[in-house]
Amino acid sequence: MVIAVDGPAASGKGTLARRLATHYGFAYLDTGSLYRAVGQAVRAGGGDPADKEAALAAAKALDVSRIDEQAIRTAEAGEAASLVAVMPEVRAAILHFQRDFASRPPQGEPGAVLDGRDIGTVVCPGAQAKLFVTARPEIRARRRWLELKNSGADVTEAQVLDDIVERDRRDAERAASPMKPAEDAHLLDTSDLSIEAAFGAAVAIIDKALG
Ligand code: C5P
Repeated sequence: MVIAVDGPAASGKGTLARRLATHYGFAYLDTGSLYRAVGQAVRAGGGDPADKEAALAAAKALDVSRIDEQAIRTAEAGEAASLVAVMPEVRAAILHFQRDFASRPPQGEPGAVLDGRDIGTVVCPGAQAKLFVTARPEIRARRRWLELKNSGADVTEAQVLDDIVERDRRDAERAASPMKPAEDAHLLDTSDLSIEAAFGAAVAIIDKALG
């Protein structure tokens, strides 16, 4: 049983996906953290995330048990992630891990929730339930800015909005696994919803899809 949760940056998909995994007793995989870890590894080694060779080497060397959760949550790591994510070779290098996680959840859970950009379209096209979570860019920028500010980052809301718009563009326009809703995905706009209301709407959609 697989639940695919896709959508743009700061749409609320991560919070939602985590809660859905707890609710259904499923394993949870944040696939963005894999791209962030690859981008961050290249940066940490003094390399350029846009350098294909460096990015592919980092993707091949990725050890998911050693991802530094704090280091990958910065705005720079998000930017680096979207640069390495345009490369088909990088995507191919981590595809197997994602599919394996979905079909054989690590603790033997009866299902998995994966969140990302291409879960419903490429990673798990056969997922039993697919959500595409969106929110207006200004709303997403405000949410991400508050998060960054609370973690001590010195950044303006306007900068965060610029970054989000640029990242959306790169994610949606790239040739390899662009961000887009699967044809059978249910769209969920969280712009005017509380976390609670978004969760309720998601559960209603998924319960129906899982029968
Ligand atoms: O979701 P998050 O903001 O952590 O993702 C960081 C970046 O990783 C995205 O902007 C996107 O470029 C890339 N990504 C992707 N495919 C996924 C998950 C993330 O291309 N399934």
